[in-house]
Amino acid sequence: MILYINCCARQESRTHRLAKAVLQKLGGEYTELKLYKENLRPLDSKSLNRRTELIERGDYSDKMFDYAKQFASADTIVISAPYWDLSFPAPLKTYIENIYVTGIVSAYNEKGMPVGLCGANELYYVTTAGGPYDPTFSYGYIESLAKNFFGIAQTRLVKAEMLDIDGNNAEKILNREIKNWT
Ligand SMILES: Cc1cc2nc3c(=O)[nH]c(=O)nc-3n(C[C@H](O)[C@H](O)[C@H](O)COP(=O)(O)O)c2cc1C
Repeated sequence: MILYINCCARQESRTHRLAKAVLQKLGGEYTELKLYKENLRPLDSKSLNRRTELIERGDYSDKMFDYAKQFASADTIVISAPYWDLSFPAPLKTYIENIYVTGIVSAYNEKGMPVGLCGANELYYVTTAGGPYDPTFSYGYIESLAKNFFGIAQTRLVKAEMLDIDGNNAEKILNREIKNWT
């Protein structure tokens, strides 16, 4: 199963357009999670306590673990998120808080080192940026989580940048990137 995690806020999102080209190339069939439509909430005192209690009991039957289970069982993951404030929009961080469950996406071995439990072989991170793109706090962070904690060996960045620079033809830049996937 290809899991498409869509964190694009705008109806006419260019990032989503680029992601659709990638998804088409990957086979065209996927399960889409529209993060702006999901009922995702940041962890707070109450949900964190409940979650910790359940994890300590090894009880993963609660619905709160459904997102983590879905993420862990995907074969391929595609994330789309525009470049916002040197990073990505907040719903993606909220999603990560919700899926990063020890015992489902990651575990610790006897030496206390993280071991990934996810089944996906690859993760695509698709983004577009108004200016020059610096991956440090977006793709770089996702790559580190995927490789070092989730057990996803391959990650790939797909991007179109400089779209909002005066004088640049955003459509032309975007279509050039889209063409690489068609
Ligand atoms: C809230 C917000 C923050 C942004 N921050 C940055 C930024 O830090 N650097 C940058 O180059 N572009 C920034 N942009 C521009 C977007 O990255 C750019 O327009 C992108 O293509 C939007 O993607 P979309 O068409 O999928 O919505 C920002 C745009 C918004 C709305």
